Amino acid sequence: MEAASGRYQVHVASGILKELPDILRDDAPAHRYAVISDDRVAELYGGEVVEECRADGLEAELVSFPEGEASKNRTEWARLTDALLERGFGRDTVVVAVGGGVTGDLAGFVAATYLRGVPVVQVPTSLVAMIDASVGGKTGVDAPAGKNLVGAFHAPQVVVADPETIRTLPQAERAQGLAEAL
Ligand SMILES: NC(=O)c1ccc[n+]([C@@H]2O[C@H](COP(=O)([O-])OP(=O)(O)OC[C@H]3O[C@@H](n4cnc5c(N)ncnc54)[C@H](O)[C@@H]3O)[C@@H](O)[C@H]2O)c1
Repeated sequence: MEAASGRYQVHVASGILKELPDILRDDAPAHRYAVISDDRVAELYGGEVVEECRADGLEAELVSFPEGEASKNRTEWARLTDALLERGFGRDTVVVAVGGGVTGDLAGFVAATYLRGVPVVQVPTSLVAMIDASVGGKTGVDAPAGKNLVGAFHAPQVVVADPETIRTLPQAERAQGLAEAL
């Protein structure tokens, strides 16, 4: 994909989540990886991603937040940012957003603003996130006045989409993704 900041790769393949550590090492090298997921996806994939990164010699930590659109706000952005600061993540960090569009937007905005900006890798696990939210570089949060009113353009370093993750997506979320695709 083309972005103002340059080009980035979009990897789409069944089972590619297992190759994430190699892709991170090649396309998004960092001293530490902050893996951000909502609590539902953290249990399904986020924890596994961290374990696989560690098994591969990468330093990775999981930071999660309550699932749902209600978390896409400045309070949760501040909480996640403070969690990264408390754990001492420096400028040599890459944020890895593993989840649906809410995670991509929220974690992307954390990355866009953390220490004035660190790279983000988008790992979409919902249909909406795979076909739309993970590409294009729009990140942000909702405000009382409306959706997506506070944010930043922050193109991903790389996007890694594993369609296998759709297997666990609730039916209603799949339908929403298909409607979005149409
Ligand atoms: N940045 C953009 O360009 C862009 C484009 C379109 C939509 N969006 C944003 O995306 C958000 C909607 O995205 P969404 O529908 O993915 O919402 P979401 O991230 O809340 O995910 C929906 C639900 O599915 C769960 N989930 C995600 N992946 C799963 C999986 N593989 N298995 C089981 N459960 C899973 C999540 O925990 C959540 O409960 C909105 O906030 C919208 O504004 C952004």
